[in-house]
Amino acid sequence: MSGPRVVVLTGAGISAESGLSTFRDSGGLWEGHDPMQVATPEAYEDDPALVQRFYDERRAALAHVEPNAAHHALARLERELGDDLLVVTQNVDDLHERAGSRRVHHLHGSLHSAWCTACDVRHPWTDALGDRPPCPACAEPELRPDIVWFGEIPYGMDLVEDALDTCELFVSIGTSGVVYPAAAFVLWARGTTLELNLEPSAGATEFAESRHGPASVLVPAWVEELLG
Ligand code: APR
Repeated sequence: MSGPRVVVLTGAGISAESGLSTFRDSGGLWEGHDPMQVATPEAYEDDPALVQRFYDERRAALAHVEPNAAHHALARLERELGDDLLVVTQNVDDLHERAGSRRVHHLHGSLHSAWCTACDVRHPWTDALGDRPPCPACAEPELRPDIVWFGEIPYGMDLVEDALDTCELFVSIGTSGVVYPAAAFVLWARGTTLELNLEPSAGATEFAESRHGPASVLVPAWVEELLG
């Protein structure tokens, strides 16, 4: 069974023009918070209310933003390629899905999922978690954001590694290339590689080709070129 011909990795940069903060650009999300304060299991252990508030704010923000032309272009590409395209996103927002993408793998989890640390069941979730709602499965008030924190294992790495091993084209969109394992995907990809980013990422020289500019311009143009 051959895997997808095209694997696309997206990062916070693809959602920037929708109004969602990136992490490391000036004024980025982490500048408002110390990453070690809000995105580690230890931080959650030490101050669950702070961590829940950080993610409750980000989950609530999703209701006020829309997918942009880059998300829509990838949804168009999936309508044409079907299972020959896999989108692997580092993002925890739902903008790919709201643009119409169906085959989206959330490597770092999702703001729209809650994970019960009492019974280990995950639930679709759009409300706040800071007020410690009961788990729909076991009724314990132990739901945490279903987000992969620093030091935790990204989801579905087998799926991603298999796809990278058989793909003909790997495209990285809107990521700084400083967080692993996603930053290594360009090295694992079997086919040719393309970076579409506002500016050269940390791994830019590893790509066969790098194009720089806003995702809302570069991604539709690239999809048109690929399908044209
Ligand atoms: N169009 C294209 N790229 C953009 C745009 C834009 N409009 N705006 C910003 N970028 C680029 C920036 O140049 C930067 O290289 O998007 C990248 C965003 O980088 P980060 O803020 O580091 O986000 P990301 O790479 O997704 O972070 C990876 O780190 O904090 C963890 O788990 C978190 O998933 C996240 C991971």
